[in-house]
Amino acid sequence: MVGTASEVQGGVAVVTLDNPPVNGLGHELRTAIVAGLDAAQSDDRVKAIVLVGAGSLFSGGADIREFNTPKATAEPTLHTVIRVVEASAKPVIAAIGGTCMGGGLELALACHYRVAAADAQVALPEVKIGLLPGAGGTQRLPRAVGVEAALNMIVTGATVPAAQLRDSALFDSMADGPLLEHALRFAQQVADRRPLPRLRERKAVQPDAEAFFQFARNTVAAMVRNYPAPAKCIDAVAASVDKPFEEGLKLERELFLQLLHSPESRALRHAFFGERAASKIPDVPSGTQSRRIASVAVIGAGTMGGGIAMNFLNAGIPVAILEAKQEALDRGMATIRRNYEASVKRGKLAAGKMEQRLKLLEPTLSYEDVGGADLAIEAVFEEMGVKEAVFRKLDEVMKPGAILATNTSTLDVNRIAGFTKRPQDVVGMHFFSPANVMKLLEVVRGAKTAKDVLATVMQVAKKIRKTAVVSGVCDGFIGNRMVEQYLRQALFLLEEGASPQQVDRALEKFGMAMGPFRMSDLAGNDIGWAIRKRRYVEKPGLMYSRIADRLCEQGRFGQKTGAGWYRYEPGRRDAIADPAVDKLVAGYRKEHGIAPREIGEDEIVERCVYALVNEGARILEEGIASRASDIDMVYLTGYGFPMHRGGPMLYADMVGPYNVVRSMRRFAANPHADPSFWKPAPLLEKLAAEGRNFNG
Ligand SMILES: NC(=O)c1ccc[n+]([C@@H]2O[C@H](COP(=O)([O-])OP(=O)(O)OC[C@H]3O[C@@H](n4cnc5c(N)ncnc54)[C@H](O)[C@@H]3O)[C@@H](O)[C@H]2O)c1
Repeated sequence: MVGTASEVQGGVAVVTLDNPPVNGLGHELRTAIVAGLDAAQSDDRVKAIVLVGAGSLFSGGADIREFNTPKATAEPTLHTVIRVVEASAKPVIAAIGGTCMGGGLELALACHYRVAAADAQVALPEVKIGLLPGAGGTQRLPRAVGVEAALNMIVTGATVPAAQLRDSALFDSMADGPLLEHALRFAQQVADRRPLPRLRERKAVQPDAEAFFQFARNTVAAMVRNYPAPAKCIDAVAASVDKPFEEGLKLERELFLQLLHSPESRALRHAFFGERAASKIPDVPSGTQSRRIASVAVIGAGTMGGGIAMNFLNAGIPVAILEAKQEALDRGMATIRRNYEASVKRGKLAAGKMEQRLKLLEPTLSYEDVGGADLAIEAVFEEMGVKEAVFRKLDEVMKPGAILATNTSTLDVNRIAGFTKRPQDVVGMHFFSPANVMKLLEVVRGAKTAKDVLATVMQVAKKIRKTAVVSGVCDGFIGNRMVEQYLRQALFLLEEGASPQQVDRALEKFGMAMGPFRMSDLAGNDIGWAIRKRRYVEKPGLMYSRIADRLCEQGRFGQKTGAGWYRYEPGRRDAIADPAVDKLVAGYRKEHGIAPREIGEDEIVERCVYALVNEGARILEEGIASRASDIDMVYLTGYGFPMHRGGPMLYADMVGPYNVVRSMRRFAANPHADPSFWKPAPLLEKLAAEGRNFNG
């Protein structure tokens, strides 16, 4: 039930915040709180009012299901509820158990008293979505816990145990037993005390405030240069010290609205909701019964197999890892151990935990040892023949109902499923390297993959802390299919006059974790070479710069060979500009009669990012991705796309599809360009014509 139940116990009215799962302060709950308070005011039996959360927590804050709907701003707003609470003629006591976050904490701060359960936790996490607490949190929290502690909480959004703040004015009493009983006793004790204490009437004091806030501003500027919210949090908290309460509130409101309309907050909110949306598959109902996954088999203990296995070990799930040869198995096991040892050395993992995890790992050369696993993930060589042999064997040995997954990057999942008599149990689980670190998991849905298999894999992904995005079957799935166009464009830029350093610098300034040439050197230039060789046969009409082939012909595969688009000192990863590459590029241009020109950073960024956008649009219209935000999640979590820009599709929305198409027309007119590259995808063209966006 959404709403509050008010009852009177010993002169105390109990108003319960009841809106599962986190007692989010949605419109119905806000209305019910005001009604509960009004009823308590006019009830002569009532001397005090306790606000308590239903279930095990107070409130997680705003109801995110209401975001971007009229209900979010409908009266009574949270501001109104807070005013009603603060103005109550009878004392209002917040009984805080479990989590008390965001608007939930701002509501509690407006109460006259707060009592907390020993294990309660508080936070103002708004900064994480590029905002600041906009319902008085920046003014009341410093008055409750002191300026420094409040500033830390607000700027970082960190969750703090209530026990840590027990001596501050945030809590009037800590419960040693059941919270509600304690709160009722407390309420009876304070029922007749007047005047009612209000945090707004306290002073927020900070010695040497000016120097203190300047130091905070400098620190924040150095740490989060792409985000305006932390600096504005500081401005708001500073106002709690040097402005009267009402003026501080006014400034808080202004700064909140500025942030609400900032592209950075839009991007962070998009990523926040995008993550949740990605876990839902349009035609797989949320109640779909999933299969039990209590043990996993990994086939192949190479680069990917080892990393994949570690994910499950870290989640406490036993793994049998299978190799074809003892030597490869030993190598794989040693790598896993070495990776854990490195974490222990860095202080990230307790030595005991490492042993616990390794105990869950069983190396084997025999399929007999893996047949009982609930999920098998294949990560053997990227050759159809090898995959075929493995899947035929898995079909033979795995128990009925086991899920058979492939980590293939480029092969057809439907063909792989066809090697078994149970294609409904086959799915792609495309991890990214290093698989124990990268957040992204593309879940590749075959033509026959069963819905409960998809539901299960999405759940498994959550358990191993991955961001799972569903992709249909196509060459490269979502991420690599788009990156191919991005890299193709980067090579055209090179032909026309840019250097690898210029291209990388422009895109890194835009915010990419790594420019395309540094990224290729890291991944191995031979991988792209193999894909291009295939393309030359499959699509002979497609225009490709052959410049990268020249590089590969020299054995410059990147970091692993000590040279690629850059050179590398032994044992180091710094990319060092290499005159040999400049010479190679200059020779290529001369051979092809290309007079190099200066290319500006804006052009570099636009051409590379719009290459992503156009392919993303095709992926959407083909139904390979279900929504634009899924594509954005792939790029934010798997390809180092800057979080503050929200992903390529949101970026296109911010520029406006109309403007993206105009730029593409301009690029197509470039005498060197391949005009077919810049032909806008029909979906992009349609959105541009209708003045609409990818993300609605
Ligand atoms: N490396 C990446 O960045 C990356 C990223 C995503 C997906 N993938 C995909 O993951 C798969 C594995 O790639 P990798 O980079 O780990 O390769 P790898 O060469 O490092 O590992 C493959 C392992 O499989 C073993 N193997 C080969 N045939 C086998 C068989 N019949 N039975 C058991 N084991 C066998 C090999 O001995 C080797 O240890 C490929 O399909 C690849 O496309 C790779």
